[in-house]
Amino acid sequence: MYKLSPSILSADFSRLGEQVLQLKEGGAAYVHIDVMDGMFVPNLSFGFPVIESIRGLTDQVFDVHLMIEEPIRYVQDFKKIGADILTVHAEACKHLHRTILAVREAGMKAGVALNPATPVSVLEHVAELLDLVLVMSVNPGYGGQKFINQSKKKIRSLKKMRKEHNYRYEIEVDGGVSFENAVMLQEAGVDVFVAGTQVFKGDIVANIKKFDEILSAKQE
Ligand code: DX5
Ligand code: ZN
Repeated sequence: MYKLSPSILSADFSRLGEQVLQLKEGGAAYVHIDVMDGMFVPNLSFGFPVIESIRGLTDQVFDVHLMIEEPIRYVQDFKKIGADILTVHAEACKHLHRTILAVREAGMKAGVALNPATPVSVLEHVAELLDLVLVMSVNPGYGGQKFINQSKKKIRSLKKMRKEHNYRYEIEVDGGVSFENAVMLQEAGVDVFVAGTQVFKGDIVANIKKFDEILSAKQE
């Protein structure tokens, strides 16, 4: 069963609460929350007070994507404000193994994100600990960028690796996901689809339903 994780980075922040409620109305499984620190990525997004205030609105799974240096510093804080899945970038952690353990010990699901240039092999010794692997299909930092085709290969190898070793991680793709490439990504092995622009441009509920039509038609 596929999952849609709309990225609120593309929301109209003057109407954030209302739009988060529309994500539930449309039936999206997760809410994707992009936190940026202006160091790991060039951009800044939002932090604890914003996430905390939308936590009060919905019981949907908060899929938090940390694009910040040394995220281990904030694991407890993200637990406190209600993150369910905490995904850190492999490139941003000096001690990736320790960071993953800290996330799990805090009682959240642990994810690792890989930038387009980062090979799947960096996960070799931590893959069994992971609930989610996020494949960046754009360079992180901004919504609305063009999908990098090479990511497909990475998705396929993650699927193969999961099968070979009996791992349990979900495979998530993030960046440039659209109605046009969703089926191709599903066939490559994606379980969780992050979509910003494609969900928030126009009618949010209708866009989520359109993803559902496209992705439910082709279940394995
Ligand atoms: C990029 C973020 C993405 C982004 C996706 O750094 O991690 O989640 O918001 O936006 P679209 O779907 O517009 O590429
Ligand atoms: Zn993201």
